[in-house]
Amino acid sequence: MTFETVDFLTDASLVDDPYPYYDFLRECPVRRVPPHEMVAVTGYDEARAIWQDDDAYSSCNSFGGPFPGLPTAPGDDDISELIEECRNAYPISEHMVTFDPPEHTKHRALLMRLMTPRRLVENEASMWRLADRQMDTFVSDGKCDFVQAFATPMAWLTIADLLGVPEADHHLFRAQLEAHVAGALGTHEQGNPFAFLDDLFAGYIDDRRRAPRGDVLTKLAQATFPDGSQPDLLDVVRIAVFLFAAGQGTTAHLLGSLIQALAEHSDLQAALRDDRGRIPAFIEETLRIESPVKANFRMVRRSTVLGGVEVPAGTTVMIMPGAANRDGRRFEDGGAFCLDRRNSRDHIAFGRGTHACPGAALARAEARISLERLLDRMRDIKISDAHHGPPGARRYSYDPSFMLRGIQALHIDFTPVAG
Ligand code: HEM
Repeated sequence: MTFETVDFLTDASLVDDPYPYYDFLRECPVRRVPPHEMVAVTGYDEARAIWQDDDAYSSCNSFGGPFPGLPTAPGDDDISELIEECRNAYPISEHMVTFDPPEHTKHRALLMRLMTPRRLVENEASMWRLADRQMDTFVSDGKCDFVQAFATPMAWLTIADLLGVPEADHHLFRAQLEAHVAGALGTHEQGNPFAFLDDLFAGYIDDRRRAPRGDVLTKLAQATFPDGSQPDLLDVVRIAVFLFAAGQGTTAHLLGSLIQALAEHSDLQAALRDDRGRIPAFIEETLRIESPVKANFRMVRRSTVLGGVEVPAGTTVMIMPGAANRDGRRFEDGGAFCLDRRNSRDHIAFGRGTHACPGAALARAEARISLERLLDRMRDIKISDAHHGPPGARRYSYDPSFMLRGIQALHIDFTPVAG
Protein backbone atom coordinates (compact mmCIF):
# COMPACT_ATOMS: atom_id res chain seq x y z
CA MET A 1 0.00 0.00 0.00
CA THR A 2 1.37 3.42 -0.93
CA PHE A 3 0.20 6.90 0.04
CA GLU A 4 -1.30 7.20 -3.47
CA THR A 5 -3.65 4.28 -2.89
CA VAL A 6 -4.14 4.06 0.88
CA ASP A 7 -7.68 4.38 2.30
CA PHE A 8 -7.40 6.92 5.12
CA LEU A 9 -10.77 5.91 6.53
CA THR A 10 -9.90 2.29 7.16
CA ASP A 11 -6.14 1.73 6.94
CA ALA A 12 -4.78 0.92 10.39
CA SER A 13 -1.21 1.76 9.35
CA LEU A 14 -2.08 5.48 9.40
CA VAL A 15 -3.46 5.51 12.94
CA ASP A 16 -0.33 5.82 15.10
CA ASP A 17 1.38 8.47 13.00
CA PRO A 18 -0.77 10.03 10.27
CA TYR A 19 1.54 13.04 9.85
CA PRO A 20 3.79 11.78 7.02
CA TYR A 21 0.60 11.01 5.09
CA TYR A 22 -0.72 14.50 5.81
CA ASP A 23 2.57 15.97 4.52
CA PHE A 24 2.22 13.93 1.36
CA LEU A 25 -1.36 15.11 0.82
CA ARG A 26 -0.49 18.73 1.51
CA GLU A 27 1.83 18.81 -1.51
CA CYS A 28 -1.47 19.31 -3.29
CA PRO A 29 -3.78 20.80 -0.63
CA VAL A 30 -6.97 19.93 -2.53
CA ARG A 31 -6.52 16.42 -3.79
CA ARG A 32 -8.75 13.60 -5.00
CA VAL A 33 -8.09 10.44 -2.93
CA PRO A 34 -9.16 6.83 -3.50
CA PRO A 35 -11.11 4.68 -2.94
CA HIS A 36 -14.24 6.67 -1.97
CA GLU A 37 -13.79 9.40 -4.58
CA MET A 38 -13.37 12.08 -1.95
CA VAL A 39 -11.40 15.27 -2.15
CA ALA A 40 -8.98 15.60 0.79
CA VAL A 41 -8.41 19.17 1.94
CA THR A 42 -5.18 19.66 3.87
CA GLY A 43 -4.48 23.34 3.18
CA TYR A 44 -5.25 25.89 5.89
CA ASP A 45 -6.85 28.52 3.62
CA GLU A 46 -8.78 25.92 1.67
CA ALA A 47 -10.21 24.31 4.84
CA ARG A 48 -11.35 27.70 6.12
CA ALA A 49 -12.87 28.58 2.75
CA ILE A 50 -15.11 25.49 2.93
CA TRP A 51 -16.29 26.13 6.47
CA GLN A 52 -17.13 29.73 5.60
CA ASP A 53 -19.27 28.83 2.59
CA ASP A 54 -22.62 27.27 3.54
CA ASP A 55 -23.93 28.03 0.11
CA ALA A 56 -21.54 25.88 -1.88
CA TYR A 57 -21.12 23.18 0.78
CA SER A 58 -23.69 21.25 2.79
CA SER A 59 -23.06 19.74 6.24
CA CYS A 60 -25.46 16.84 5.59
CA ASN A 61 -22.52 14.40 5.59
CA SER A 62 -20.47 16.22 8.22
CA PHE A 63 -20.11 12.98 10.20
CA GLY A 64 -20.72 10.26 7.65
CA GLY A 65 -18.40 11.53 4.95
CA PRO A 66 -18.75 9.37 1.86
CA PHE A 67 -21.19 6.95 3.54
CA PRO A 68 -23.80 6.14 2.36
CA GLY A 69 -23.19 8.40 -0.67
CA LEU A 70 -25.80 9.84 -3.00
CA PRO A 71 -28.64 7.56 -4.20
CA THR A 72 -28.29 8.78 -7.79
CA ALA A 73 -25.57 10.43 -9.86
CA PRO A 74 -25.65 14.21 -9.32
CA GLY A 75 -26.17 15.10 -12.98
CA ASP A 76 -26.40 18.83 -12.21
CA ASP A 77 -24.27 21.70 -10.95
CA ASP A 78 -26.68 22.30 -8.10
CA ILE A 79 -27.87 19.32 -6.08
CA SER A 80 -29.72 21.21 -3.33
CA GLU A 81 -32.92 19.29 -4.02
CA LEU A 82 -31.21 15.92 -4.10
CA ILE A 83 -29.57 16.68 -0.75
CA GLU A 84 -32.92 17.49 0.84
CA GLU A 85 -34.39 14.25 -0.53
CA CYS A 86 -31.70 12.05 0.96
CA ARG A 87 -30.54 14.06 3.99
CA ASN A 88 -32.17 11.67 6.47
CA ALA A 89 -30.12 8.76 5.18
CA TYR A 90 -26.88 10.27 6.49
CA PRO A 91 -25.42 9.24 9.86
CA ILE A 92 -26.69 11.29 12.82
CA SER A 93 -28.95 13.28 10.51
CA GLU A 94 -31.05 14.09 13.60
CA HIS A 95 -28.22 16.18 15.09
CA MET A 96 -27.52 19.83 14.34
CA VAL A 97 -23.98 19.24 13.11
CA THR A 98 -25.52 17.82 9.92
CA PHE A 99 -28.09 20.62 9.48
CA ASP A 100 -27.77 23.52 7.05
CA PRO A 101 -29.22 27.03 7.39
CA PRO A 102 -31.97 28.00 8.04
CA GLU A 103 -32.71 24.87 10.10
CA HIS A 104 -29.25 24.90 11.61
CA THR A 105 -29.55 28.56 12.61
CA LYS A 106 -32.65 27.82 14.71
CA HIS A 107 -31.14 24.89 16.56
CA ARG A 108 -27.81 26.59 17.08
CA ALA A 109 -29.63 29.54 18.68
CA LEU A 110 -31.39 27.11 21.03
CA LEU A 111 -28.04 25.61 22.01
CA MET A 112 -26.48 29.01 22.61
CA ARG A 113 -29.24 29.83 25.08
CA LEU A 114 -27.80 27.06 27.16
CA MET A 115 -24.20 28.19 26.87
CA THR A 116 -24.63 31.72 28.15
CA PRO A 117 -21.59 33.54 29.55
CA ARG A 118 -23.12 33.22 33.01
CA ARG A 119 -23.60 29.47 32.68
CA LEU A 120 -20.02 29.06 31.44
CA VAL A 121 -18.70 30.97 34.45
CA GLU A 122 -20.71 28.74 36.79
CA ASN A 123 -19.54 25.69 34.90
CA GLU A 124 -15.92 26.79 35.19
CA ALA A 125 -16.31 27.27 38.93
CA SER A 126 -17.47 23.69 39.33
CA MET A 127 -14.67 22.37 37.09
CA TRP A 128 -12.15 23.12 39.86
CA ARG A 129 -14.17 20.98 42.23
CA LEU A 130 -14.71 18.20 39.68
CA ALA A 131 -10.99 18.13 38.80
CA ASP A 132 -9.96 17.85 42.44
CA ARG A 133 -12.53 15.26 43.26
CA GLN A 134 -11.40 13.13 40.35
CA MET A 135 -7.72 13.54 41.28
CA ASP A 136 -8.51 12.48 44.86
CA THR A 137 -9.30 9.02 43.50
CA PHE A 138 -5.73 8.30 42.34
CA VAL A 139 -3.14 10.94 43.28
CA SER A 140 -1.87 9.18 46.41
CA ASP A 141 -0.99 6.11 44.26
CA GLY A 142 1.80 8.06 42.51
CA LYS A 143 0.78 6.54 39.17
CA CYS A 144 -2.27 6.14 36.95
CA ASP A 145 -3.58 5.62 33.48
CA PHE A 146 -4.37 9.28 33.01
CA VAL A 147 -6.93 8.69 30.25
CA GLN A 148 -9.03 6.35 32.34
CA ALA A 149 -8.42 7.91 35.74
CA PHE A 150 -8.91 11.53 34.76
CA ALA A 151 -9.37 12.65 31.14
CA THR A 152 -12.40 10.51 30.36
CA PRO A 153 -14.40 11.12 33.55
CA MET A 154 -13.47 14.81 33.65
CA ALA A 155 -14.74 15.32 30.10
CA TRP A 156 -18.19 13.86 30.67
CA LEU A 157 -18.61 15.19 34.20
CA THR A 158 -18.04 18.71 32.85
CA ILE A 159 -20.79 18.30 30.26
CA ALA A 160 -23.12 16.71 32.80
CA ASP A 161 -22.53 19.73 35.02
CA LEU A 162 -23.13 22.17 32.15
CA LEU A 163 -26.50 20.52 31.61
CA GLY A 164 -27.29 20.40 35.31
CA VAL A 165 -27.56 16.62 35.56
CA PRO A 166 -28.14 15.83 39.25
CA GLU A 167 -25.08 14.20 40.83
CA ALA A 168 -27.30 11.49 42.25
CA ASP A 169 -27.84 10.34 38.65
CA HIS A 170 -24.19 10.24 37.60
CA HIS A 171 -24.05 6.48 38.05
CA LEU A 172 -26.60 6.17 35.21
CA PHE A 173 -24.08 7.80 32.86
CA ARG A 174 -20.73 6.63 34.11
CA ALA A 175 -20.34 3.08 32.86
CA GLN A 176 -21.70 3.63 29.36
CA LEU A 177 -20.01 6.97 28.72
CA GLU A 178 -16.64 5.80 29.95
CA ALA A 179 -16.80 2.70 27.79
CA HIS A 180 -17.50 4.74 24.68
CA VAL A 181 -15.29 7.74 25.01
CA ALA A 182 -12.93 7.15 22.15
CA GLY A 183 -14.14 7.32 18.61
CA ALA A 184 -17.67 6.67 19.69
CA LEU A 185 -19.11 8.11 16.53
CA GLY A 186 -16.01 7.61 14.49
CA THR A 187 -16.77 4.62 12.38
CA HIS A 188 -19.62 4.29 9.98
CA GLU A 189 -20.40 0.69 10.97
CA GLN A 190 -21.30 1.50 14.56
CA GLY A 191 -24.73 2.48 15.71
CA ASN A 192 -25.11 5.49 17.95
CA PRO A 193 -23.60 4.55 21.32
CA PHE A 194 -25.18 7.63 22.89
CA ALA A 195 -28.71 6.41 22.19
CA PHE A 196 -29.25 5.54 25.88
CA LEU A 197 -28.99 9.26 26.66
CA ASP A 198 -32.11 9.99 24.60
CA ASP A 199 -34.31 8.25 27.18
CA LEU A 200 -32.55 9.81 30.14
CA PHE A 201 -32.86 13.35 28.79
CA ALA A 202 -36.41 12.84 27.54
CA GLY A 203 -37.26 11.96 31.15
CA TYR A 204 -35.55 15.09 32.54
CA ILE A 205 -37.04 17.51 30.01
CA ASP A 206 -40.54 16.05 30.28
CA ASP A 207 -40.35 16.24 34.07
CA ARG A 208 -39.13 19.87 34.06
CA ARG A 209 -41.80 20.93 31.58
CA ARG A 210 -44.48 19.50 33.89
CA ALA A 211 -42.91 20.75 37.12
CA PRO A 212 -40.34 23.55 36.66
CA ARG A 213 -37.70 23.60 39.41
CA GLY A 214 -35.44 26.57 38.78
CA ASP A 215 -32.47 24.37 37.82
CA VAL A 216 -30.44 24.23 34.61
CA LEU A 217 -32.50 21.39 33.20
CA THR A 218 -35.60 23.54 33.66
CA LYS A 219 -33.97 26.33 31.66
CA LEU A 220 -33.20 23.84 28.94
CA ALA A 221 -36.75 22.47 29.03
CA GLN A 222 -38.23 25.96 28.73
CA ALA A 223 -35.84 27.36 26.10
CA THR A 224 -37.51 28.64 22.94
CA PHE A 225 -36.48 29.09 19.34
CA PRO A 226 -35.59 32.68 18.31
CA ASP A 227 -39.16 33.21 17.04
CA GLY A 228 -40.53 32.38 20.51
CA SER A 229 -41.96 28.96 19.60
CA GLN A 230 -41.33 26.04 21.91
CA PRO A 231 -39.22 23.25 20.41
CA ASP A 232 -40.42 19.66 20.45
CA LEU A 233 -39.20 17.61 23.36
CA LEU A 234 -37.01 15.64 20.97
CA ASP A 235 -35.27 18.75 19.62
CA VAL A 236 -34.17 19.68 23.12
CA VAL A 237 -33.16 16.13 23.96
CA ARG A 238 -30.98 15.98 20.88
CA ILE A 239 -29.13 19.13 21.74
CA ALA A 240 -28.34 17.80 25.21
CA VAL A 241 -27.28 14.42 23.90
CA PHE A 242 -25.11 15.82 21.14
CA LEU A 243 -23.08 17.80 23.64
CA PHE A 244 -21.84 14.50 25.06
CA ALA A 245 -21.17 13.07 21.62
CA ALA A 246 -19.23 16.13 20.46
CA GLY A 247 -17.53 17.22 23.64
CA GLN A 248 -16.43 14.06 25.33
CA GLY A 249 -13.93 12.17 23.19
CA THR A 250 -12.51 15.37 21.71
CA THR A 251 -11.75 16.93 25.08
CA ALA A 252 -10.49 13.70 26.62
CA HIS A 253 -8.07 13.40 23.70
CA LEU A 254 -6.89 16.97 24.17
CA LEU A 255 -6.21 16.30 27.86
CA GLY A 256 -4.33 13.12 26.93
CA SER A 257 -2.13 14.95 24.40
CA LEU A 258 -1.35 17.72 26.88
CA ILE A 259 -0.23 15.37 29.63
CA GLN A 260 1.64 13.14 27.21
CA ALA A 261 3.72 16.15 26.10
CA LEU A 262 4.20 17.35 29.65
CA ALA A 263 5.30 13.95 30.93
CA GLU A 264 7.59 13.33 27.98
CA HIS A 265 9.37 16.70 28.07
CA SER A 266 10.68 17.66 31.50
CA ASP A 267 11.87 21.04 30.18
CA LEU A 268 8.34 21.86 29.06
CA GLN A 269 6.99 20.78 32.44
CA ALA A 270 9.55 22.97 34.19
CA ALA A 271 8.69 25.94 31.96
CA LEU A 272 5.01 25.65 32.85
CA ARG A 273 5.75 25.21 36.54
CA ASP A 274 7.90 28.34 36.44
CA ASP A 275 5.31 30.39 34.65
CA ARG A 276 1.72 29.21 34.79
CA GLY A 277 0.84 32.10 32.51
CA ARG A 278 2.18 29.99 29.63
CA ILE A 279 -0.49 27.31 30.08
CA PRO A 280 -2.95 28.87 27.55
CA ALA A 281 -0.19 29.02 24.90
CA PHE A 282 0.63 25.37 25.61
CA ILE A 283 -3.02 24.41 25.11
CA GLU A 284 -3.28 26.28 21.80
CA GLU A 285 -0.06 24.84 20.41
CA THR A 286 -1.16 21.34 21.41
CA LEU A 287 -4.54 21.84 19.72
CA ARG A 288 -2.63 22.87 16.62
CA ILE A 289 -0.07 20.08 16.54
CA GLU A 290 -2.32 17.26 17.80
CA SER A 291 -5.75 18.37 16.63
CA PRO A 292 -8.34 16.05 18.19
CA VAL A 293 -10.61 16.09 15.12
CA LYS A 294 -8.93 14.32 12.20
CA ALA A 295 -11.65 14.51 9.60
CA ASN A 296 -14.77 16.61 9.08
CA PHE A 297 -16.83 16.38 5.91
CA ARG A 298 -18.96 18.44 3.59
CA MET A 299 -20.95 17.67 0.45
CA VAL A 300 -20.47 20.01 -2.48
CA ARG A 301 -23.96 21.41 -3.09
CA ARG A 302 -23.09 23.67 -6.03
CA SER A 303 -20.15 23.00 -8.33
CA THR A 304 -17.34 25.30 -7.33
CA VAL A 305 -13.60 25.87 -7.45
CA LEU A 306 -11.47 25.30 -4.38
CA GLY A 307 -7.78 26.20 -4.30
CA GLY A 308 -7.79 26.25 -8.10
CA VAL A 309 -9.33 22.77 -8.33
CA GLU A 310 -12.81 22.21 -9.75
CA VAL A 311 -15.03 20.34 -7.32
CA PRO A 312 -18.31 19.27 -8.91
CA ALA A 313 -21.62 19.13 -7.05
CA GLY A 314 -21.98 15.80 -5.23
CA THR A 315 -18.31 15.56 -4.26
CA THR A 316 -17.52 14.66 -0.65
CA VAL A 317 -14.77 16.90 0.70
CA MET A 318 -12.78 15.68 3.69
CA ILE A 319 -11.37 18.57 5.72
CA MET A 320 -8.37 17.43 7.74
CA PRO A 321 -7.71 19.93 10.58
CA GLY A 322 -4.67 17.99 11.82
CA ALA A 323 -3.04 18.47 8.42
CA ALA A 324 -4.21 22.04 7.79
CA ASN A 325 -2.90 23.07 11.21
CA ARG A 326 0.62 22.12 10.11
CA ASP A 327 0.39 23.94 6.79
CA GLY A 328 3.72 25.72 6.35
CA ARG A 329 2.04 28.53 4.42
CA ARG A 330 0.36 29.57 7.68
CA PHE A 331 2.55 28.11 10.43
CA GLU A 332 6.29 28.36 10.00
CA ASP A 333 7.91 24.93 10.43
CA GLY A 334 4.37 23.65 11.01
CA GLY A 335 5.39 20.15 12.10
CA ALA A 336 7.41 21.43 15.06
CA PHE A 337 5.98 22.05 18.54
CA CYS A 338 6.85 25.58 19.62
CA LEU A 339 5.52 26.92 22.94
CA ASP A 340 6.30 30.50 21.92
CA ARG A 341 4.73 30.32 18.50
CA ARG A 342 3.26 33.69 17.71
CA ASN A 343 0.14 32.48 15.91
CA SER A 344 -0.75 29.12 17.49
CA ARG A 345 -4.23 30.41 18.22
CA ASP A 346 -4.95 30.74 14.50
CA HIS A 347 -5.34 26.96 14.44
CA ILE A 348 -8.60 25.53 13.16
CA ALA A 349 -8.95 22.59 15.53
CA PHE A 350 -12.41 23.92 16.50
CA GLY A 351 -13.50 24.52 12.91
CA ARG A 352 -14.79 27.85 11.60
CA GLY A 353 -18.00 29.35 10.28
CA THR A 354 -21.58 28.61 11.30
CA HIS A 355 -20.78 25.20 12.81
CA ALA A 356 -17.61 26.34 14.63
CA CYS A 357 -17.36 24.52 17.92
CA PRO A 358 -19.61 26.09 20.57
CA GLY A 359 -17.73 24.11 23.22
CA ALA A 360 -14.32 25.66 22.50
CA ALA A 361 -14.32 27.96 25.54
CA LEU A 362 -15.41 25.12 27.75
CA ALA A 363 -12.74 22.74 26.41
CA ARG A 364 -10.06 25.39 26.86
CA ALA A 365 -11.16 26.10 30.44
CA GLU A 366 -11.27 22.41 31.24
CA ALA A 367 -7.74 21.94 29.91
CA ARG A 368 -6.40 24.96 31.81
CA ILE A 369 -7.98 23.98 35.12
CA SER A 370 -6.88 20.36 34.77
CA LEU A 371 -3.29 21.44 34.10
CA GLU A 372 -3.29 23.88 37.00
CA ARG A 373 -4.45 21.29 39.50
CA LEU A 374 -2.22 18.59 38.05
CA LEU A 375 0.87 20.78 38.43
CA ASP A 376 -0.25 21.69 41.96
CA ARG A 377 -0.80 18.14 43.06
CA MET A 378 1.87 16.13 41.24
CA ARG A 379 5.62 16.61 40.91
CA ASP A 380 7.97 14.97 38.39
CA ILE A 381 5.28 13.68 36.09
CA LYS A 382 6.84 11.07 33.81
CA ILE A 383 5.72 8.57 31.21
CA SER A 384 5.75 5.04 32.63
CA ASP A 385 8.58 3.18 30.87
CA ALA A 386 7.10 -0.07 32.15
CA HIS A 387 3.91 0.49 30.15
CA HIS A 388 5.07 2.52 27.16
CA GLY A 389 8.68 1.44 26.68
CA PRO A 390 11.85 3.54 27.06
CA PRO A 391 12.30 7.11 25.77
CA GLY A 392 12.85 7.10 22.03
CA ALA A 393 10.99 3.79 21.63
CA ARG A 394 7.62 4.52 23.21
CA ARG A 395 4.57 2.45 22.40
CA TYR A 396 1.14 4.09 22.48
CA SER A 397 -2.16 2.96 21.12
CA TYR A 398 -4.25 5.63 19.42
CA ASP A 399 -7.95 6.01 18.80
CA PRO A 400 -8.46 3.87 15.68
CA SER A 401 -11.35 5.93 14.29
CA PHE A 402 -10.95 8.15 11.26
CA MET A 403 -12.66 11.01 13.10
CA LEU A 404 -10.53 11.51 16.17
CA ARG A 405 -6.87 11.67 17.13
CA GLY A 406 -5.79 10.78 20.66
CA ILE A 407 -4.19 8.17 22.84
CA GLN A 408 -6.26 5.42 24.40
CA ALA A 409 -4.12 4.93 27.49
CA LEU A 410 -1.45 7.09 29.13
CA HIS A 411 0.37 5.55 32.06
CA ILE A 412 2.27 8.10 34.09
CA ASP A 413 4.33 8.04 37.30
CA PHE A 414 4.61 11.07 39.58
CA THR A 415 5.30 12.21 43.11
CA PRO A 416 2.17 13.27 44.96
CA VAL A 417 2.40 16.69 46.56
CA ALA A 418 1.41 16.59 50.20
CA GLY A 419 -1.35 18.89 51.52
C1 HEM B 1 -10.81 19.90 22.26
C2 HEM B 1 -12.10 19.71 22.22
C3 HEM B 1 -12.97 19.92 21.01
C4 HEM B 1 -12.66 19.98 19.68
C5 HEM B 1 -11.29 19.82 19.03
C6 HEM B 1 -13.90 20.20 18.95
C7 HEM B 1 -13.98 20.34 17.57
C8 HEM B 1 -15.14 20.65 16.89
C9 HEM B 1 -15.23 20.92 15.47
C10 HEM B 1 -14.05 20.87 14.49
C11 HEM B 1 -16.52 21.20 15.19
C12 HEM B 1 -17.09 21.59 13.81
C13 HEM B 1 -17.85 20.48 13.12
C14 HEM B 1 -18.34 20.89 11.74
O1 HEM B 1 -18.07 21.99 11.26
O2 HEM B 1 -18.97 20.03 11.10
C15 HEM B 1 -17.27 21.10 16.42
C16 HEM B 1 -18.64 21.27 16.52
C17 HEM B 1 -19.33 21.09 17.71
N1 HEM B 1 -18.81 20.92 18.96
FE1 HEM B 1 -16.86 20.74 19.42
N2 HEM B 1 -14.92 20.29 19.86
C18 HEM B 1 -14.40 20.14 21.12
C19 HEM B 1 -15.09 20.19 22.31
C20 HEM B 1 -16.44 20.39 22.44
C21 HEM B 1 -17.15 20.49 23.69
C22 HEM B 1 -16.51 20.42 25.07
C23 HEM B 1 -18.47 20.63 23.38
C24 HEM B 1 -19.67 20.79 24.27
C25 HEM B 1 -19.73 20.65 25.53
C26 HEM B 1 -18.59 20.63 21.93
C27 HEM B 1 -19.76 20.74 21.24
C28 HEM B 1 -19.84 20.87 19.86
C29 HEM B 1 -21.12 20.99 19.15
C30 HEM B 1 -22.51 20.98 19.77
C31 HEM B 1 -20.79 21.12 17.79
C32 HEM B 1 -21.76 21.29 16.63
C33 HEM B 1 -22.00 22.75 16.38
C34 HEM B 1 -22.87 23.03 15.18
O3 HEM B 1 -23.18 22.12 14.39
O4 HEM B 1 -23.26 24.20 15.03
N3 HEM B 1 -17.33 20.49 21.41
N4 HEM B 1 -16.40 20.79 17.45
